[in-house]
Amino acid sequence: MSNDWEPRIVAFFCTWCTYTAADLAGISRMTYAPNARIVRLMCSGRLDPQFVLKAFADGADGVLIGGCHPGDCHYQAGNYKTLRRYTLLKRLLAEMGIEPGRLRLEWISASEGDRVQKVMNEMAEQIRKLGPLRLERPSPPAPLPSERERGVGVRGLGVEGKTGEGRLKAEVRAKVAV
Ligand code: FES
Repeated sequence: MSNDWEPRIVAFFCTWCTYTAADLAGISRMTYAPNARIVRLMCSGRLDPQFVLKAFADGADGVLIGGCHPGDCHYQAGNYKTLRRYTLLKRLLAEMGIEPGRLRLEWISASEGDRVQKVMNEMAEQIRKLGPLRLERPSPPAPLPSERERGVGVRGLGVEGKTGEGRLKAEVRAKVAV
């Protein structure tokens, strides 16, 4: 592994709490690992599991989800839905051969700028230990056999006349029959 490698992290943050906390950390001039690109959601419950899978498929080494503390969701139960999806995603990632440690969920309120700093640093360190995500791409399907390999145009009367080879064979057959 190259020494220059740095983890790429996608962070999905709820705008009302964790995103505001990240903003607070910035305003308070707290420094933290610059590995995450933050995607702002209106609620962590907006997170479709496909967002996480797409992030990994498109090259993320880790995904961080941040939402309001349980009971504080501005949409009542959005973060409870997030928790259920997170649990499912962990299982799904393990089955796909992706270390579940690459996905993390944190409840961070708007006033917890220091917690954003801590979690971002921990996440970058954790992914650094795991190394780059290497997804196995499925091998491309074998090419379909050509018409010639399938014998199309040789025996099939309908197609036979359309190919040069079919016409030639038909002429030979006609000559032999004479
Ligand atoms: S509004 Fe923040 S998790 Fe729902």
